[in-house]
Amino acid sequence: MNWTLFSAFVSVFIATTNIQFALAQNEKPLSVSPKKKPNILLIMADDVGTGDIEGWWKDSSSLVHMPNINKLIRLGVKFTDAHSSSLCAPSRYMLLSGNYQHRGKAPKGSWDMSESGNQFLSHQQSIAQFLKDENYSTFMSGKWHLGTKAMENFNYTNILSGNDWSNNSLIQGPGDIGFDTSFISLGGIQAPPYSFFKNDQLVLSEAQGIKFWKKGSYQKSNGISKIHMNEGEGDVEWDSSQYNIRIIKETISYIDEHLEQKENKPFFAYVALGSVHTPHTPPIKYVDGSNVANEYQTRHLDMLYEMDKSVGALVDAIENRNIEEETIIIFTSDNGGLRHSEKFSHQTSGPLRGEKASIYEGGHRVPLVFRFENVFPSGESRDKLVGLNDVYSTIADLVGTNPIPHGSAQDSISFAEYLSSAENDDGLRKTFSHWEYRRGKETIHATRNGDMKLIHFPRNGTHSLYNLKDDISESNDISGDPQYNDLIKVMYNQLMADGPCPDADKAHGKSFELFNHFYKTKQKQLCTWFKEKRQRCKKYIEGSLYCGKTCKRKGWCQRHYTNSSQIN
Ligand SMILES: *[C@@H]1O[C@H](CO)[C@@H](O)[C@H](O)[C@H]1NC(C)=O
Ligand SMILES: *[C@@H]1O[C@H](CO)[C@@H](O)[C@H](O)[C@H]1NC(C)=O
Ligand SMILES: *[C@@H]1O[C@H](CO)[C@@H](O)[C@H](O)[C@H]1NC(C)=O
Ligand SMILES: *[C@@H]1O[C@H](CO)[C@@H](O)[C@H](O)[C@H]1NC(C)=O
Ligand SMILES: *[C@@H]1O[C@H](CO)[C@@H](O)[C@H](O)[C@H]1NC(C)=O
Repeated sequence: MNWTLFSAFVSVFIATTNIQFALAQNEKPLSVSPKKKPNILLIMADDVGTGDIEGWWKDSSSLVHMPNINKLIRLGVKFTDAHSSSLCAPSRYMLLSGNYQHRGKAPKGSWDMSESGNQFLSHQQSIAQFLKDENYSTFMSGKWHLGTKAMENFNYTNILSGNDWSNNSLIQGPGDIGFDTSFISLGGIQAPPYSFFKNDQLVLSEAQGIKFWKKGSYQKSNGISKIHMNEGEGDVEWDSSQYNIRIIKETISYIDEHLEQKENKPFFAYVALGSVHTPHTPPIKYVDGSNVANEYQTRHLDMLYEMDKSVGALVDAIENRNIEEETIIIFTSDNGGLRHSEKFSHQTSGPLRGEKASIYEGGHRVPLVFRFENVFPSGESRDKLVGLNDVYSTIADLVGTNPIPHGSAQDSISFAEYLSSAENDDGLRKTFSHWEYRRGKETIHATRNGDMKLIHFPRNGTHSLYNLKDDISESNDISGDPQYNDLIKVMYNQLMADGPCPDADKAHGKSFELFNHFYKTKQKQLCTWFKEKRQRCKKYIEGSLYCGKTCKRKGWCQRHYTNSSQIN
């Protein structure tokens, strides 16, 4: 559906709704102008599994009351078979790029501040850039976790030490992938620098100091701030317990400034929450004065409660400004949840096997809800397979007038039509693949074909097959049944075709065609970049795509997939 069709659809819908309203309640007409594109509020929670959401599963074991997310579900469309990757950084790239993770610079994902910069290759335009080109005002707050770098002569060993931040800004931060304004921390609350960056510039708090934060707990006025695994430098006033409150305040200020400017532009606000990643440091009180810390048995559960309040604060901000009929609200998570509260029978994955970082469904089947008041249906559920990388094409389809740029969002399939009706399921994806990496090496991968799921272990060449339709918990491996032999071969080939192995033409043969146009202009320039330093070929899989012989990596693939031939 393109924007024109969508506008027509909105008009018809509004006309029909108005009549029903007029007859039933005699209400004033709805005020959505289909001429103005809708705002988009995209909320991504951290480490929240489907089982964490109260009522997501029929036999919900979530202990946490979530009135705000439940309201979104009641007023929106809920996806029960939506997938991220099983880890944080790759999922953020998937969401913003519309690609599988290995199509960026580093197959395992980019996480830190380093010379290689963010995960995007120069020709890949993010959904923020796409929307900016659609004349959206674009904003991001919260956890970046996509990799970034800084100015020349920057010392990455100790990021905040001895570097002149007064005259520095992030290179390849939010501003470089299409966010007009931003308020982020590079690694959420889990990694240094423990500081915020506003519009890619380090924010100096009132005290204006940087200190080395050692592991430990620090008592603050509204909670306990923690440095958990990674020591390092940051703001002297860093307080992990206020992280979400802070980024939500910034988001609401942005929305207000945007509305005040009355520029008739729609906005895109991407809010990457810190909850519920570790360290779990709930604030004592939320902004509205309600209690958060110690409301539940564990701090993990308190953080889930705070996560719901954060979603509530954002949705309230939209509703209080009467823009809910002009705003698409999306809620999701970056990967599966954490088993931190299981002893109190809170099951983060519900009936699913595995949790965050797992190849099993609990690792990457995530909550996904779309609400667009009076446009999308309310309280409906969709059970077909979709991926976070599909959000790009879906948004482009809903609000775009430009085509998706060549070479961007290659693994993204729109489910825009499916949002409006469960019957519009033509063209949805039938397959979806997952890759797990350990220390940069791919260790396990899996693929879906309808309800069937094949998991392959390249290290020992074994595989398993599950039928999720009647075995959602992946407890019954049916790969030994000879009736599935042909299907397994088909699925394995699919996995190879989707995957990162640049062996190469198998993996990239298709993209070559898609890239033809783009190639003519960019190929030479990118290839020069690889030729300058051959080791880049090793690091960035797309080298084989741009640079033919220079970056051919025959040996790697053969070593990596030695045992795959057992399936083929
Ligand atoms: C964006 O705004 C400019 C200036 O008003 C206009 O020329 C252009 O067509 C707009 N682009 C889109 C995609 O709407
Ligand atoms: C970078 O920082 C580290 C740690 O502070 C220091 O040991 C090293 O000498 C610095 N390197 C340069 C080139 O200044
Ligand atoms: C600050 O940055 C500008 C622009 O990159 C540069 O010209 C100037 O020399 C820098 N000043 C300092 C003190 O590093
Ligand atoms: C193959 O490796 C996987 C993952 O390490 C393991 O779970 C499985 O038991 C192994 N299978 C065999 C037959 O060794
Ligand atoms: C391939 O798998 C077999 C077990 O099926 C194992 O004995 C062998 O070492 C594996 N080869 C490599 C190169 O990993």
